[in-house]
Amino acid sequence: MKLNSLNDLYMEELRDLYNAEKQITKALPKMMKKATSPELKSAFEEHLEVTNQQIQRLEQIFEKMGKKPTGKVCKAMQGIIEEGEETMGHEGDPAVMDAALIAAAQRVEHYEIAGYGCCRTYAKMLGETEAAKLLQQTLDEEEQTDAKLNKIAESSVNKQAMKANA
Ligand SMILES: [Fe+2]
Repeated sequence: MKLNSLNDLYMEELRDLYNAEKQITKALPKMMKKATSPELKSAFEEHLEVTNQQIQRLEQIFEKMGKKPTGKVCKAMQGIIEEGEETMGHEGDPAVMDAALIAAAQRVEHYEIAGYGCCRTYAKMLGETEAAKLLQQTLDEEEQTDAKLNKIAESSVNKQAMKANA
């Protein structure tokens, strides 16, 4: 893949996100199962539904351009998920595990926030108004998810995990 234009880069970054999202749909059910806090479980469940919509948005963008969304493996997401799985393989206090799951999930969100922020900006510059809107919508959702995870951590999970210290 040659990166001769901003459009090339835009395509490359979109394909990276598409593959990352696909990986996330496989990781989230495992995280849901591992979580103990009902609030956290339902946050993961909700995000799985949202992720499927985000995949559809990307497919919509590619379809409009007459291009395919496949062909790239997001190695960064592979690594983030691999680390999460390593964490999930550990035994321990359920609340501490929940806190660890939040830490892993927030890494996923932050990667996506960076990617969608860039793609949204490129779409705007390239005059892809409709795509820019769709990407902004996903970016907003990723930011909301991140904020929600913060809230769950601060209001309950981290406090529970602290109790395990005693
Ligand atoms: Fe996503």
